[in-house]
Amino acid sequence: MKVYLDNAATTALDPSVLEVMMPYLTEQYGNPSSIHGYGRETKAAIEKARKTIAKYLNASVGEIFFTSGGTESANLVLKCAVDKYAVKHIITSKIEHHCVTHPVEELEKAGKIQAHYVKLDERGNVIMEDLERLVAQYGAEALVALMHANNEIGNLLDIDAVANLCKEHGALFFSDTVQTVAHYPIDLQKTPVHFISGAGHKFHGPKGTGFVFIRSDKQLCPLLHGGSQERNMRAGTENIYGIVGLAKALQTSYDHVEEYHSYIKSLKEYLYSELLKAIPDIKINGNYGDNSLYTVLNVSFPANDNSDFLIYNLDINNIAASAGSACTSGSEQGSHVLRELPIEPSRANVRFSFSRHNTYEELDYVVEKMKGFYAVAHQESKVS
Ligand SMILES: Cc1ncc(COP(=O)(O)O)c(C=O)c1O
Repeated sequence: MKVYLDNAATTALDPSVLEVMMPYLTEQYGNPSSIHGYGRETKAAIEKARKTIAKYLNASVGEIFFTSGGTESANLVLKCAVDKYAVKHIITSKIEHHCVTHPVEELEKAGKIQAHYVKLDERGNVIMEDLERLVAQYGAEALVALMHANNEIGNLLDIDAVANLCKEHGALFFSDTVQTVAHYPIDLQKTPVHFISGAGHKFHGPKGTGFVFIRSDKQLCPLLHGGSQERNMRAGTENIYGIVGLAKALQTSYDHVEEYHSYIKSLKEYLYSELLKAIPDIKINGNYGDNSLYTVLNVSFPANDNSDFLIYNLDINNIAASAGSACTSGSEQGSHVLRELPIEPSRANVRFSFSRHNTYEELDYVVEKMKGFYAVAHQESKVS
């Protein structure tokens, strides 16, 4: 059996998505900037995709710009907002994705901003009182960059509360919504966030596709200069088949969002309860429950002589999951997220992340292999 439980890293392309992409990989290859029929055809496909995304997020079409994914969108917002709005302070956290932490570090190194890291509780949640203090202190000179959901531990942020706080103090707010777009309803008329980002490959769309939402009363300057594509916001011939696939994937996910949510959540709960029966000393890293992504289960396993090999052992058994090591020494950098949590360094951490393609049978197989691993490890440690 082969089990893929690394869906927070990327997901399989949905066959219905591939189907709508195919014509643009074959006969509909016109450059959307060309004025002839071939070009008009692909231009219309891009605008239709934009309309779909805007509709599902309750945004206007003029607020959606296509990019190559979550990393580009975050870089665009952070770097361009700093220049355009004379931002002097970025308020963020130590557990953002590197597509946020690294540009913030670069901006600070360049002397453009001062970075402030909000305090987190022992489960990795933003301490709201600390955020309120920072936002009140730096107000209109600040940009707040906090992710809607953490890709490693799954914690969800109260994005409405943060958006309202920023609004109250005149601060800009960018939320990396890469792990929540197409998984949770997002209503941009109700949530006064200024910028969000999305990536198609996190919801069964193609890799190298994404978008940035820029609220209509805000403007950013482009990161790439060249042609006038994306209304001068992003130069370069558009990834038409990718854009068409992105919109189809988002549409399919949102059309079934409640069904997928409850199925995937039940998979997560099942794996947790079965693992707990098999290996009682497991712990959850981050939140568990409604304030956590239903797609992510980050588990801390007891330390033993073999725990370093846990993730390799899963791989040998054809189980794909992510290692989330808290270790900081040597060449193994470990997870910058887990490092911020009070986890014993000797424990082995595994992020299991689910999709609608997973089954209970797959999870039974994972539990059986984990149980076997711990039984062997237990015996070996008794011998040595
Ligand atoms: C929370 C989060 N932000 C941003 C990204 C980067 O997205 P992309 O791979 O599309 O650049 C990822 C992907 O790992 C992510 O999980």
